[in-house]
This record gives sequence, C-alpha cells and structure tokens, in this order.
Amino acid sequence: MGKSLTYKILEKNLLSGTLKPGNEISVKVNQTLTQDSTGTMVYLQLEAMGIKDIKTDLSAAYIDHNTLQAGFENADDHEFIKSAAAKYGIIYSKPGNGICHQLHLERFAKPGDILIGSDSHTPTCGGLGMLSIGAGGLDVAVGMAKGSYYLKAPKVLNIELVGKLNPWVSAKDVILYILKELTVKGGVGYVVEYSGEGVKALSVTDRATITNMGAELGATTSIFPSDEITKDFLIRQGREKDFVPLSKDDDAIYDKKIIINLSDIVPMTAMPHSPDNVVKVSQLDKIKIDQIAIGSCTNSSYTDLMKVAKILKGKKVHEDVSLVISPGSSNILKMMADNGALADLIAAGARILEATCGPCIGMGQAPKSNAISLRTFNRNFKGRCGTKNAEVYLVSPETAAVSAITGYLTDPSTFGNMPVVEIPEKFHVHENYFIYPPKDRSNLEVVMGPNIKPFPINEALNKNIYGKVLLKTGDNITTDDIMPSNAKLLPYRSNIPELSKYCFGTLVDDFCNRANEYKGGFVIGGENYGQGSSREHAALVPLYLGVKAVIAKSFARIHKANLINAGILPLVFKDKDDYAYFDEFDDIKVNDVINSLENELLIELINKTKNISVQLIFEGSKRDIEILKSGGYLNFVKNHAY
Ligand code: F3S
Repeated sequence: MGKSLTYKILEKNLLSGTLKPGNEISVKVNQTLTQDSTGTMVYLQLEAMGIKDIKTDLSAAYIDHNTLQAGFENADDHEFIKSAAAKYGIIYSKPGNGICHQLHLERFAKPGDILIGSDSHTPTCGGLGMLSIGAGGLDVAVGMAKGSYYLKAPKVLNIELVGKLNPWVSAKDVILYILKELTVKGGVGYVVEYSGEGVKALSVTDRATITNMGAELGATTSIFPSDEITKDFLIRQGREKDFVPLSKDDDAIYDKKIIINLSDIVPMTAMPHSPDNVVKVSQLDKIKIDQIAIGSCTNSSYTDLMKVAKILKGKKVHEDVSLVISPGSSNILKMMADNGALADLIAAGARILEATCGPCIGMGQAPKSNAISLRTFNRNFKGRCGTKNAEVYLVSPETAAVSAITGYLTDPSTFGNMPVVEIPEKFHVHENYFIYPPKDRSNLEVVMGPNIKPFPINEALNKNIYGKVLLKTGDNITTDDIMPSNAKLLPYRSNIPELSKYCFGTLVDDFCNRANEYKGGFVIGGENYGQGSSREHAALVPLYLGVKAVIAKSFARIHKANLINAGILPLVFKDKDDYAYFDEFDDIKVNDVINSLENELLIELINKTKNISVQLIFEGSKRDIEILKSGGYLNFVKNHAY
C-alpha cells in the first residue's frame, strides 16, 4: 500500500508505538524552536528537569514577540533565555533578527526532519517538506531533554491542487479559500498534505504561507513535498546540502482527499472575527480602512514585501490610512534596503517596524477605537490587535497594498498589471543576530531577574474532585480569551501570579476573584474549547487559580494537551446536550475519577445544585492518564524513568 509523505517521515523517526491513525506514538525530534512568549516557561521547565545537554540536532530560541523594552521585564526575560540557551547548547536569535518561523524556514528547516515548536504556527516549515508541529512548551522542553515527542498518529488529509493561480491571487487567498471550505475545525485530527500539479506553481514561501495558516484549520500540521522548488530555495539560501527530494508514493492512500482548483480562487478576505469567516473581496461593499498591517509569520517573506513595495512605488498611502510593515527577517530588511525597495515604501508613507511579530501580537500599533484594520496576518480574533472594538479583516499582501493606496478594501485585480518580483540568485545571509552556544558550557549559569517567577506545579490527582462552576463559556473559546496576550500583559509571561489577575478577562471581569473565593473549581466549555494557540499560559494560569477540570463539548488539540500537561482534566460531555444542565456557581462533583480513567469507564459528573448527574468521557491515552494522575507532565517526567 502506497504511503503518504507524512507517514514516510513519521516512520523514519518512529521510536515507539504502531503507526496507525489514533494510536499513540513517539518520534525522534530533530529540531525544536521556541519564541520568547512561551520560551521563558520552556527554559524554566528545562532547568527544573536538571539536564546537562539537549538531545536534538538543533534547537533555536527566538526573541520576536515581546521586544518592546518599556520596562525591565522584557529585557530580563531576553537575558534569561539567552543565558539558558548558552547553558544548554541552543542557538539564540536576538530581538530584531526576525520572526521565528520565517527565520527558521530561511536558516534551519530541513526536509524530512521533525521540528516541534512552542508556537502554534510552527507548521510554517511544512512549506519546506519538514514535519513541523506546534506543541505545548513542556512538550518542547521534554523534546529537548529527551529527544522525543509523543503524539497521536494523525489521519492524513490530501489536498490536491490543480489549475493555475489567476493574476493578483496569491498563497494567502488559497489558504483563506481552504478555510472557507473546511472551517476552523476542518483540519482537526489531520495532517494536511498538499500534492498535485498546482504545487509546482507555488514557491517555498507561498507554501509556507499555506502551511502557516493550516494552524487555523486546526490541523496537526500541513506539509508540501520537497522538490526542485525546495532545492532552488535552499540553494538561494546557501543551504543546498540540506536538500533531499521527498514525495508521497504514487498510490498513496489517504484518510480523506479533496481537490482544489487554483483557477477558482479570487482575492479573498476573512471578515471579523474568525479566520474562516471568508468571502470574496469583491463581494463586500466599499469599506473604509483606518489601518493596514503587513507582515507576521504568514506574509513577511521577501517576495511578499517586494510585491508590496512594487505596488506602492511612486504612489501615496491614503491620508486616512496608517500603513505599518514588519519584515519577517533582518536578512529581508537588509536586502530591501540594498535594492531600494525600503526607500520606495518610506517614500509612499509606510511606517517601517522592526523585524518582529509586532502588531500581530498586539505589541504596539493597536488601532484607534472602532477602527477597521486590514492585516496580512493569520488571526482576527476580537481584541487580539489590542483594541477591543476594532474590526480586523485578513487579506493577502496584494490586497493590503492596493487598499493602502485607495483607502478602501479593494480587490487588487481591479488595479491594473500585477507586479512581478525577481528572486535574487543568492539571498543575503548574515549571522550577526544569532548567538551560537559556546563549546565549553560547563560553568554557565542562567540569569533570573525579578520578573521571573517559578511556574505552578500541580498535585497528584485526587480520587474525588468537587467545587463550583467558576465559568460557563460558549463555543470556539480561544486561548486569547482564556489568557489574553496583549501588550500590557506580555511582559508578565514569566510571572504567572501577575497574569492570573487577567484570566478569562475578555469574558468576565472577576474570574480571578471567583477562583480565589472558591479555592478553584471547574470551567464548562462549548465546542472547540481552547482554539487558537499553543500558549500554555492558557493552562498554567487556570492551574495556578485552582481549576481542576474543564468540561466541554470538544477541545482544540494543543490546548487539550496543555491542560493534561498542567494536570487539569479535559473532559467531554458524552451527550453534548447535557451542557445545558450546568450554570455558573453550580456545585459539581466527579466521583472516583482515577478508577474511571484507569478502566476507561464513563465518568459520572454530579450537579449537586440541580440534582442531576450526567456522563463524561476522557479522550486520551494511557500515558495521558498517568500524567494526569501524577499532577502534570513535569511531575511525571521527574517521577518516571523515561
Ligand atoms: Fe508572531 Fe503572530 Fe506569527 S505573534 S509567530 S507573527 S502568529
């Protein structure tokens, strides 16, 4: 039976388990990446494990999220990560070097290898034929410490691309179109594997835009084959030695297959407040724009930004529009400085930001009240941009650049000839923002400033658990809803006690007080609870506040893993309608939970306030159960020979 590319890579790296969808397997981790927002926790966890050396071929620690230094907090965190990287043998990327995924794609990603990263857009490197999975921070710490990663063998969804892209249509429109078709839940449980003639028309950075937003489909990851286009990219990056050709077998069997005709796609936009709320740009009435932000790990490649520069050359940004541009890497910024494109952008009236995540994470550039903001980013959840009542539309760089001139959301295909971007034979590559670990690391210590507080550690699971329903949420609650990550809070990513004051702050004002008053309790959730990001703060902060279990209709994959790692039970209603029987402040109880978990029994949830009992299911592996019994992954790793 022919194999998918995904299963070929998993097979090559398999350490334990049988490769069959749904089975728990462990695989060798070749590379890891962290960014600073999740990285401080990862390196605190690595410290707590007491290891000497990492076991991966290559690990990189990027500083790209929280680069503003309005107080000592961020700078302290950077110094902590830098010192931990040196101690453990990790490459450190200084602030200003670029966005982790763009940089990793340019400098380190290798076709056929496995990368895990403590960021949900780690799948970006799938554009280069690398199996690249976003994971919880603790999984990444263990990946470095033990060189292995546990996951459920995924199903594989094949998207065959046929046809040719229309003028002014680019990779962003392709993935927005796929999101419209499949929705934010369409990829759950799957690796999305691209194939077909249409793949040949997409550059590596186009492919990376598509795999990047596979995270928005809820997919485990997305991957493209490694072919002549991949080789060409690696040659231009001076990394030809990293190339290996990789593709599926001709008779590969897939769990699901769809065909997308590229010629059906036109410029698309995801309307507020979800990446799958997608329509054709031409379907919307004239919408006046206040702000446009171009960049992020989705659309900040050399080609993306050169297209923007060519569109804006000799033109003027509309007087009512604030246009901000953040390049994906310092290499790209240098190339655009050298070839004059940067001057064209500045002359048109663009505001040039440093090569970091910036506005994507609400790190500066929050739009004005009730603003309409067009962004080339991957997420438009309410409030993520830093302004609660702003409306964010996700678009391609072409749509963003043309709209910057007109002042209205504009279909770029009405704008005349499409610019053509020549890719330089050799990309500029400098290493001056990277710090490689020293050879002799025997006497190095990590530096912990006052902003770095120990992370919470759970207790072993009790036989019976009980308490109040602290909060009942609706469907599609995001990790940003659970633990907001705006510019004000980001400096405290290594300070859980401070963060806890804002937990669930987008939904209720007083969750922290409720949790303190009732000494913890439960959260009741709807469908797809915890969608959006790998940020384990969305599990660690509820753990700190004493949340014992989240009972939902369904969970997003990474957040569920993070809850288990924190020792918080993620339980689902056997009958989703039972969700209606629970309200905030009800007294609830789960009896004999350890026995039910160990024997794979239905779990009884009693609502003492309403005198009703319903049945719950735990969907996880035997190993997950052991982790929960230990009170989280760190306890489990410390207590078990691994
Ligand atoms: Fe950064 Fe936004 Fe990507 S925060 S890693 S640019 S999703």
